[in-house]
Amino acid sequence: MSDSAAVYHATATAPVNIAVIKYWGKTSTKLNTPTNSSLSVTLSQDDLRTLTTASCSAQFQADALWLNGAPHDVSNVRSQACFAELRALRKAKEDRDPSLPPLSSYKLHLVSENNFPTAAGLASSAAGFAAFVRAIADLYDLEETPTELSRIARQGSGSACRSLFGGYVAWEKGSRDDGKDSIAVQVAPESHWPTMRAAILVISDAKKGVSSTAGMQSTVATSTLFPNRANVVVPARMEAMKKAIAEKDFETFADLTMADSNSFHAVCLDTVPPIFYMNDTSRSAVRIVEEMNRCAGENIAAYTFDAGPNAVIYYEEPAQDIVLGVLKKAMPAAIGWSDKYSKIEAKLPDGFNGT
Ligand code: ADP
Ligand code: DP6
Ligand code: CO
Repeated sequence: MSDSAAVYHATATAPVNIAVIKYWGKTSTKLNTPTNSSLSVTLSQDDLRTLTTASCSAQFQADALWLNGAPHDVSNVRSQACFAELRALRKAKEDRDPSLPPLSSYKLHLVSENNFPTAAGLASSAAGFAAFVRAIADLYDLEETPTELSRIARQGSGSACRSLFGGYVAWEKGSRDDGKDSIAVQVAPESHWPTMRAAILVISDAKKGVSSTAGMQSTVATSTLFPNRANVVVPARMEAMKKAIAEKDFETFADLTMADSNSFHAVCLDTVPPIFYMNDTSRSAVRIVEEMNRCAGENIAAYTFDAGPNAVIYYEEPAQDIVLGVLKKAMPAAIGWSDKYSKIEAKLPDGFNGT
């Protein structure tokens, strides 16, 4: 039995994850499967995150999404794939238990808000589609595991599959033609490396000129450096990165993270026409971190840049004052800061006004 006037709701959040070995390139645009495996660190829920409420009702006329207060298209194949997969799971549940309300036949309304810049290279599609899938899975009372949900979120945005887990997360590219083994797995929980920190330098909150989806398709089609990155460089780095994380070896973690960010931006530059995600301020952040590490005689910080100009700096807690102190003094152009565990504002050097 169902109540035709009832509106059913569920709310979920999902955090951003920032890759240290980057996903860039698809083997299938239909399945959204990647050319190479990737590995990321999921930030904490109280930092950069998406908050999404999913509702459904017999009264709703069409599936719809409001993103940051504005209507957002859901007719694209990737949103549709997520809706279809989740509805099929709900339908199977209703078939097993006919006393359940027939939510699978109702249209969905999603209201979503990112508490950080959208489409600016801070992984909004990752948190966004992870929250999208989790909110609907909660609304439908699905019992699927995070791994199973990661397979669905991947179809919305590849990087989203990794935001279903906390800590250190690999997206294994898989080998099946149907993409069913292209899923995220947790390599280590956040508690494994309690001193790890991430600071976010918001260098620009403007929407990027080339979306990740369009950029990577263009790279796959035109870059001569890309096959070597995807087939040779990244597979070796994935193994080395898993070992560095298992051993909490920050020196190696930082070397691999910085090298992979630079390799990813190099294949972007090698794309025809070239794609420039980093800007002059991004490059000055690179130089500052390189110089900081040289002066320290070891890696105390590691930079990484997604498909946008904004920097994420990984470091270990004992080096926090020096890493953040130097960066904030040297980078007054950064318009905003965020940190995984602590409020950085309390640590601003004297005279720094945060603009
Ligand atoms: P980013 O670097 O921020 O991940 P992308 O180019 O990968 O940028 O993806 C940005 C797109 O992701 C947005 O234009 C929007 O379509 C989608 N997106 C972002 N946030 C959300 C959200 N909260 N819910 C649904 N989709 C979202
Ligand atoms: C540079 O996951 O945003 O952030 O699957 O087309 O939505 P789509 O792409 P997306 O690409 C992310 C690229 C990256 C690297 C990464 O997160 O691994
Ligand atoms: Co994205």
